[in-house]
Formats: sequence, C-alpha cells, structure tokens
Amino acid sequence: MIIILVIFFHIIIFQWLTRKKKNVDGKHVVVTGGSSGIGLWVAINAVRKGADVTIVARNVRILEKAVAVIKENCIRDDQKVEYYSLDLSKEHEIIEKGFNDIEAKLGDIYMLVNCAGQALCGVIEDVKPEDARFLMNLNYFGTLYPIQYVLPKMKVKKDGIIVLTSSQAGLMGIYGLGPYSAAKFALRGLAEALSMETKHLGINVTLGLPADTDTPGFANEQKSKPKITQEICSGGGLFKPEDVGKKLFEDALKGNFFSILGFESWILSILCVGMSPWKNPLLGILQSYVMGALRMISFVIQWNFGRIVKKYYQPKEKTN
Ligand SMILES: NC(=O)c1ccc[n+]([C@@H]2O[C@H](COP(=O)([O-])OP(=O)(O)OC[C@H]3O[C@@H](n4cnc5c(N)ncnc54)[C@H](OP(=O)(O)O)[C@@H]3O)[C@@H](O)[C@H]2O)c1
Repeated sequence: MIIILVIFFHIIIFQWLTRKKKNVDGKHVVVTGGSSGIGLWVAINAVRKGADVTIVARNVRILEKAVAVIKENCIRDDQKVEYYSLDLSKEHEIIEKGFNDIEAKLGDIYMLVNCAGQALCGVIEDVKPEDARFLMNLNYFGTLYPIQYVLPKMKVKKDGIIVLTSSQAGLMGIYGLGPYSAAKFALRGLAEALSMETKHLGINVTLGLPADTDTPGFANEQKSKPKITQEICSGGGLFKPEDVGKKLFEDALKGNFFSILGFESWILSILCVGMSPWKNPLLGILQSYVMGALRMISFVIQWNFGRIVKKYYQPKEKTN
C-alpha cells in the first residue's frame, strides 16, 4: 500500500512539475483596463513575452501614454501595440462592435485579460441605486460580454487564455464594500462555470484576487471608503501593481485558477476554496490538511473585524 501511495505521489508531482505553460509570443493579447494600474502591468508583461497587445479603456489621453510605456518594453521591432477607447459599462452591442474592431486590427484574440473595474464604497443603504447598477455593469457585464465575444473562436481553436479580475472582496463580503463585493463574487461564479465549460478544450481560465494594490483606482476608492473599511483592510498591506500584474499574467500562462499574492491572500484563498477547480495536486493536498486549522484562525480574524465595527459605533450609541 505504501509503495502504491509513493508511486502515486511521484506521478502527480512529476506531472505538475512538467506541466506546460502557454506562450503568447506573436499572439494577440487584449487587456481591458490596460491603461492603468494592474492592467497596464499585465500588458507590459505580455509584450515582454513577444505578444501584440491591444489595451482597452475610456480615456484616450491616458491610453496613448500607456501605449508609449508598453512599447518601450517590446522585445522586437515588429510587435504591435494598439489602444481602443470603449466604455465597458455599456450595452452588449457596443462592446461587441468594439471587439470586432479590435480583432479587425490585430487579428483573433488569443488571450483576454479583463482588468477594467472600479470600486465605489459605502454602507449598503447609502450606495445610490445607479452606482450599484454601474458597479455590476462594469465589473460583471463588462467582463461577461468580452468573454462571450472571444469564446466561440477559442473553442474552435481549442486554445486560449481568459482572465477575470475579481478581488479579495470577491471571496469575503467586507463592511462598506457590499455592492462592489457582490459584483466581484459574481465573477467567481462565472469563472468557475467558464472553467468547467472550457477545461476539456485546453482553454486556461484564471481568476485574479488582488488584495489592496497601489494604483490610481485604489487612491480614488480611498476617497469614499469608510474608516471602518480602511481599518479592516489595513492588515493586508499594500501591494505594487507591477508585482500583482506580473503574478496575474504568469498564473494565467500556467493555467492556475486563483491568482493571489501575499500570505493573507493565500490564507483567504484556502479558506474560501470550496468547489473551485484545482490544478496543482500539491496545493490540493496542502489545502485539505490546513483547512480545518485555518477555519479556527478565521474565527479570531472575524472576531477582530467585528470588534473594529463595534468600536466605531460605540461613541455614537452613547451620545444618543
Ligand atoms: N487596486 C486594488 O487595490 C484592487 C484590489 C482588488 C481588485 N482590484 C481590481 O483590479 C482591477 C484593476 O484595478 P486597478 O486598481 O489597477 O484600477 P485602475 O488603476 O483604476 O485602472 C482601471 C482601468 O480600468 C479602466 N476603466 C475603468 N472604468 C472603465 C469603463 N467604464 N470602461 C472601460 N474601462 C474602464 C480605466 O481606464 P479609464 O478610466 O480611462 O476607462 C483603467 O485603465 C479592477 O477590476 C479592480 O476592481 C483592484
């Protein structure tokens, strides 16, 4: 029995170590939200691997600047870097037309990285209905529609890579981030179903789960973030967009389902792993072993979050 187990573990370890990484050299990579922050760094990593890249966002001036930065990182003179101005919170037809134009310029999309997204904060009753709808339109539908566009061709070719950028707030509902969390949770469900529908065809699906990352988007989000949310999130630190973008790109090439960076994110990803797809047998075994102990630790973490919330409400209650 022991000999069989030893052989079995050696086979899965060998398979994991020799697994193939996809290659984007000479292929068309589209990065939505590629003009700034995490998306910009994904685009830079793609051209460093020889890809032709189209970045998609709204602001043309920022897109032009980003294209210049991305071009500086190309490894060959014949690589192409284009931009396309598109509001991804709009209707399906507008996004479909945009992606038609994008493919007409640089050819079929091999890798789609959905990074465009925004957070608006506030306790649930304070978020305006139009803002809540916008969060869903951009973060969820602005990811779903591009995926629906690229899937038929990827399925025919039996190849391709799709990235969805969720958040740590897409694994755990956080005070002051309700409607944003809901949109990012929706992406997890979409990514799990997408993975099940495409794995047998050889298409990689990766769900990015960034923690707080030092980007223009994060700076903007801080303006509407309640103090309680800031204190709850402060324990995880602040990551650099270059590190998060590189990790997301590398995980997508490897076909890792979750893309995470940092110890806290790793713990949360294990606690919330549920029925998500698995690829790395070593990680699967580790998850099975440590899940119970981590659940105990999560009680302490949740108790601490509850304590932070109570602390901010106590003075108000006393004066009433
Ligand atoms: N930074 C963090 O702490 C953090 C943490 C967890 C998850 N995330 C997620 O990571 C992704 C990237 O965030 P980031 O911090 O790198 O943000 P960022 O620096 O603000 O960049 C956001 C990008 O998305 C584009 N964008 C925004 N609204 C758009 C719209 N309606 N249509 C098309 N493009 C739009 C922006 O360009 P335009 O404004 O010109 O359109 C920009 O290129 C987002 O999905 C975000 O939710 C970020």
